[in-house]
Amino acid sequence: MEILVVKDYQALSEKAALIVTEEIKQHNMPVLGLATGSTPEGMYARLVEMFNNNLLDFSSVVTFNLDEYAGLSPDHPQSYHSFMHRHLFDHVNIMVENTHIPHCGDQNISEFCREYDRAISAAGGIGLQILGIGGNGHIGFNEPGRFLSVYTHLVELTEETIKANSRFFDSPREVPRQAITMGMGSIMHASKILLLASGNNKASAIQKTVSGIISTDLPASMLQLHHNVTVLVDQDAASLINSSGN
Ligand code: F6R
Repeated sequence: MEILVVKDYQALSEKAALIVTEEIKQHNMPVLGLATGSTPEGMYARLVEMFNNNLLDFSSVVTFNLDEYAGLSPDHPQSYHSFMHRHLFDHVNIMVENTHIPHCGDQNISEFCREYDRAISAAGGIGLQILGIGGNGHIGFNEPGRFLSVYTHLVELTEETIKANSRFFDSPREVPRQAITMGMGSIMHASKILLLASGNNKASAIQKTVSGIISTDLPASMLQLHHNVTVLVDQDAASLINSSGN
């Protein structure tokens, strides 16, 4: 694992955008795995800025999002579909048909999940997977527990995640209880992984992610088994790393 510590959120967003840019420029058909949430917002803003300055071309970029709430219409303002359009897709020359976000509609959910995994494989697999991290160590919506799933699946969100995400909704009652998420296998199959974290509230999860103890209680700790992971954190999120001896 490579751990990059930068000064603050702005530096993190800038560096993350540069890593994505490199990935896009290196491939004829770059396949990106994308995350939503507060953490990558600055990175998306920077990518849009670079596109506007003619420094980036998204015309051949293919994307697969990690996850989406289940039971929320794609046009709900807090859906991850809306998030991606608001922060990236509506502002760059990406082809909508090249973007993928889990949403099963009326389709059988298991069938949908299998198709999502097949679509990732058919695109050649994910070249660069962007990840955020929950305070409880979740990646995508792979929540802590006794088991982790390999493939895309329906998941019950933990109370901690519902509480954390209630900041985007009018009340915690409105936060969906379930989501569809890529499984750990889909994430671990990516050629490269970029994990982003900013702020003190992520410090403990980051310390455990890089600490050497691999456990389903902290799904992000599994990333230690991947051969090409960059953990890009600001000083606040990195504040507990040294105290663990890493
Ligand atoms: C979102 C996702 C989640 C978030 C995580 C951190 O697509 O996969 O794992 O990355 O919940 O969210 P923020 O960045 O809002 O703290």
